[in-house]
Amino acid sequence: MQGGTIGFDRYMDIALYAPGLGYYSAGAHKLGCGGDFITAPEMAPIFSRCVSAQCAQVLQHLGGGSILELGAGSGAMACDVLADLAQRQALPQSYLILEISADLRARQQARVRTQLPHLAPRVQWLETLPVTPIRGVILANEVLDALPVARFRRRKGVPAELAVEEKGGEFIWTERDPRPDFDPAVAALLGACADGYTSEWNPRLLPWIGAVAAALHSGLLLFTDYGHPRREFYHPQRVDGTLRCHYRHRAHGDPFLWPGLQDITAAADFTAVADAASHSGLELHGFTTQAHFLIGCGLAQMAADLGAADTRERTAMSRQVQVLTLPAEMGEIIKAMALTRNLASPLMGFSGPDHRRRL
Ligand SMILES: C[S@@+](CC[C@H](N)C(=O)[O-])C[C@H]1O[C@@H](n2cnc3c(N)ncnc32)[C@H](O)[C@@H]1O
Repeated sequence: MQGGTIGFDRYMDIALYAPGLGYYSAGAHKLGCGGDFITAPEMAPIFSRCVSAQCAQVLQHLGGGSILELGAGSGAMACDVLADLAQRQALPQSYLILEISADLRARQQARVRTQLPHLAPRVQWLETLPVTPIRGVILANEVLDALPVARFRRRKGVPAELAVEEKGGEFIWTERDPRPDFDPAVAALLGACADGYTSEWNPRLLPWIGAVAAALHSGLLLFTDYGHPRREFYHPQRVDGTLRCHYRHRAHGDPFLWPGLQDITAAADFTAVADAASHSGLELHGFTTQAHFLIGCGLAQMAADLGAADTRERTAMSRQVQVLTLPAEMGEIIKAMALTRNLASPLMGFSGPDHRRRL
């Protein structure tokens, strides 16, 4: 990119996914206590048990089927979901994983082989989304927030693109004309915002959701992720958007520090996700907070059953439940969205408060 300018979405794509160099593609530790950030399945296996309960309900209704997990990280959720489904005698025909990072794919393979040798033959890694659509469940935890986004800044009432320029060996922000693919639904909300208002949007969301939706013949596509309904995402007071970087459990807002060595994320616009899904023929079955999703899946009873053995375990379990459900922790900022096709079953995770009207 010598002396040139690129969109932030291109920069984020390279910084996270360039083979061998990007944050997710190179060998850094990334997820977990010794990495840069921790996700719900890494922190609390009970999260995956709840997801497993939801999968079991759908698979039972469909009379069997497969699970496809997108962006499986360290493989923690895949192992815990499979182990739980085995206990319930509700194993899927196959557990497919589509992982964009070769490094993480290798870690997932090693983990499944070590942790679940007897179930390993059921797990397959895909290079692309399946050509024959599956019957079952597609899972994606914290994948939407890892998709590259473009940035803009309101300037004289118009959303100028915030692109990335290289100057004197450093990356800097530079404003350029609004992009032709700027989301008109976002533009419509900017009248209420002041000049200088900065935020993000995902120009690749519609085709990406379209491709994922096309991989589902019947069943559930479940997103759990950091995000907001559009009106809250582009609230006039959210003056600097949602872009966050993570390096050794510290969060900050400068994506140009240590490219390739730190995580870069942006919250999901769940209204855009729901619109894209509807465009692809999926039904918006439910939208709720992570806390309500987990409670609907039976979190309280599971925690009581699992933590009953000794005081130390009970304390650890109660701390995990708090982090998963408290509004100030992961409980409200992470949302769960259920998108379905050819599925008439109720969904236990969406039996509580229904937040679809916020979209
Ligand atoms: C924040 S991590 C979450 C990992 C894991 N799901 C968890 O909750 O611990 C994002 C994951 O999504 C993967 N990823 C990003 N974009 C992807 C895509 N388009 N297709 C498949 N995986 C993707 C990354 O490589 C990484 O494994």
